[in-house]
Amino acid sequence: MRRTAAPRTPRPDGSRAGRRLWGRAAFRYHARVNIVDPRIEEYLERITPPRPETLEEMERLAARRHFPIVGPLVGRFLFLQARALGARHVLELGSGFGYSAWWFAQAIPAGGRVVMSETSTENCALARDFLGRDGLLEKVTLHEANALDVIERSPGPFDVIFCDIDKHDYPRVYPFLKTRLRPGGLFICDNMLWFGRVVGPDEDDDTRGVRELTRLLYDDAGYVTTILPLRGGVSLSCRLG
Ligand SMILES: C[S@@+](CC[C@H](N)C(=O)[O-])C[C@H]1O[C@@H](n2cnc3c(N)ncnc32)[C@H](O)[C@@H]1O
Repeated sequence: MRRTAAPRTPRPDGSRAGRRLWGRAAFRYHARVNIVDPRIEEYLERITPPRPETLEEMERLAARRHFPIVGPLVGRFLFLQARALGARHVLELGSGFGYSAWWFAQAIPAGGRVVMSETSTENCALARDFLGRDGLLEKVTLHEANALDVIERSPGPFDVIFCDIDKHDYPRVYPFLKTRLRPGGLFICDNMLWFGRVVGPDEDDDTRGVRELTRLLYDDAGYVTTILPLRGGVSLSCRLG
């Protein structure tokens, strides 16, 4: 079978490290399916305006460490969803060093809150530093803890719940949505096309986790769900009532 060449799109920071990372990762994933034509992805990245310095520093750090942040395309999408919904209360599962939380914190009004969860001590320290630089600490509560424990002890209700934890745990988030998400609220989940693996032969725990959460959401008449082919695939589920 002919293998698809890795797209040569540079990562948003344009760094050589970023280019190498993208090339390697993309070859693995895109060897099966190109979710988006690489020329379209390149175009989208090209038209995306520069970000504030703190965000661009986070993007460079992610490229250097090969750390999977959502990046500016999905970051802007998260901002838009939260702002369009008038969200005040956001719960983030898997915060890394605060890149996606930065977008949410900018989208919500003063007095709103982003509840963050992250197991890595180092990532939590970096998140405090980055968010503090832009005066966003007063809008976040950062739990250095397992996101599943945080959602269990956070009654909410939240306007938006964003999930970006280890994919094998994705289905474990689903039972909490009924009580933690307000009616009309949005559940957003990253990597729901898992860079094409959902249609491949992979049967590892992560791929199974992504497929199972997808099935649960699409089978539940209490939500309307769709998946956008943006980067690794971003799902959007509205709780109806
Ligand atoms: C894909 S990264 C998150 C990136 C972040 N959402 C962003 O775009 O800036 C996943 C992060 O979730 C953390 N993580 C994975 N499973 C977790 C869990 N069950 N509870 C809390 N954090 C978790 C990892 O340590 C990692 O930092």
